[in-house]
Amino acid sequence: MIRVSAQRTTMKTIDADLLAIGIFEDPHLFAGQIAPLERLLGTSIVPPDGIPFAGKDGQTMLLFPKNARVPRLLLVGWGKRDGFSIERIRRAAAAAAKVAQSCGVATAAFLEPDPTMIARLSPEPGNGIWVTVAAAAAEGIWLGLYTFNRYKTTKDSPSRLRRFFLTTESTSKVRYMSRGIEHARIVSSSALLARDLENAPGDEIHPESLAQAARRAGRRSGFRVRILDERQIRRMHMGGLLGVARGSHRPPRFIVMEYAGPRSSAKKPVVLVGKGVTFDAGGISLKPSAGMAEMKMDMSGAGAVIGTMSAAAELRLPVHLVGLVPATENLPGGGALKPGDIVRHYNGMTTEVDNTDAEGRLILADALAYAGRYDPALIIDLATLTGAVVVALGHFATGMMGNNPVALQEMHDAGERTYERVWELPLFEEYDRLIRSDIADIKNVGGRWAGAITAGMFLKRFVGDRRWIHLDIAGTAIMEEPTAYIPRGGSGVGVRLLIDFLEHWSA
Ligand code: BES
Ligand code: MN
Ligand code: ZN
Repeated sequence: MIRVSAQRTTMKTIDADLLAIGIFEDPHLFAGQIAPLERLLGTSIVPPDGIPFAGKDGQTMLLFPKNARVPRLLLVGWGKRDGFSIERIRRAAAAAAKVAQSCGVATAAFLEPDPTMIARLSPEPGNGIWVTVAAAAAEGIWLGLYTFNRYKTTKDSPSRLRRFFLTTESTSKVRYMSRGIEHARIVSSSALLARDLENAPGDEIHPESLAQAARRAGRRSGFRVRILDERQIRRMHMGGLLGVARGSHRPPRFIVMEYAGPRSSAKKPVVLVGKGVTFDAGGISLKPSAGMAEMKMDMSGAGAVIGTMSAAAELRLPVHLVGLVPATENLPGGGALKPGDIVRHYNGMTTEVDNTDAEGRLILADALAYAGRYDPALIIDLATLTGAVVVALGHFATGMMGNNPVALQEMHDAGERTYERVWELPLFEEYDRLIRSDIADIKNVGGRWAGAITAGMFLKRFVGDRRWIHLDIAGTAIMEEPTAYIPRGGSGVGVRLLIDFLEHWSA
């Protein structure tokens, strides 16, 4: 990751190869924003025939002003003043960082946004908002510059970009901004860890190496990791996890992580559960080949949990966290689970397996039941669980279900703040009929309709009356198209969301 820092400077003293400046889309753009800028720079930047730049959200224009202190000036559109938001700052910073990288400069700076516009973002007066503003800009830079190019033997163009300054003229703001940047550094690097785990091929990240990745993260960030092997999983009667793993030559793992922050070890923990299917071919209910490669990312829930454990530990959050990851492949081997088979879970309940491709819920059932051992204050599971949630919400909202309105509302708010937005789907009791089995306690598929919900109803049976939130990230973890700061592929979704949630939620 490149270095990002807050810097006290003025237009006269600024020293960077490229200076990015946010411009609002408004009818008086030239008189109101460009002309004052030209006065500050002491030179004209607008050619006589004007420039085709409207300040639209996401728009950028690179200029080379004559006789100015900075050799390159980058105009970045904020969009309309009315829609200005923290998310626009994330996106604009990402756009600026990408241009800076592609034009080969070593240092870049982003000029402090108009303080009156920033003040509008905060309900409270004072400089506290600058923590959030700088954090958003830094997140945009780090998340936006990410590429997964470890397997490219020749890189497109080696990046020269080393430093990115967020400038301000005020010394007191520097302190707030630095705090925000440090927070963003921890949260972004943890989200990028999740992306790396997602994007890595299934042959690199399989149950054992996923467990090793968790162990490394624990050592680096400061949380405990225990790894249960196949024998121990068998002794615990986790029939769902064992059943799914039967089709693969690689044995499953059950990863247990724990972090007890300052003044928290006596508190009931929040238990995070992440689906860790390191490749989902569907098993005997084999998936079609088109798009199957994406299923290397079917461990995105696990990536989010490992990333969140890392960030929480590095931030020294005053929370007690447990992370559980059932890890397995779902392949169609000779010993594989078959449609019609029945598995017995950790809590003794039985499931009739109608479709071996509905494997996520089989392994989560064991983990959710196991979570009960901790007498948790709240259980949160994250899983790339259903194609149905992608049909319902696409790639811009995570499907959320649960049984505790207060926690659901808090998760919704965390989604708005981080822009990892969630949308609630109902768990009405009527849906239960759809997963009834004639011969076992429950069936693992619910037919054609409401697939994301019937999956949620299935999980609900294993949490009992404990407080619980289920996040179906099938659409938000796996991106088909890039956005401002998420490239195609694994998004690392969940890390920023959960950290923000944990910082605000009090049981
Ligand atoms: N991992 C998939 C869900 C998925 C689909 C994630 C698309 C990301 C993108 C899951 O294990 C699965 O196969 N679900 C089935 C369930 C069905 C058999 C009831 C599905 O959604 O088709
Ligand atoms: Mn599946
Ligand atoms: Zn799956």
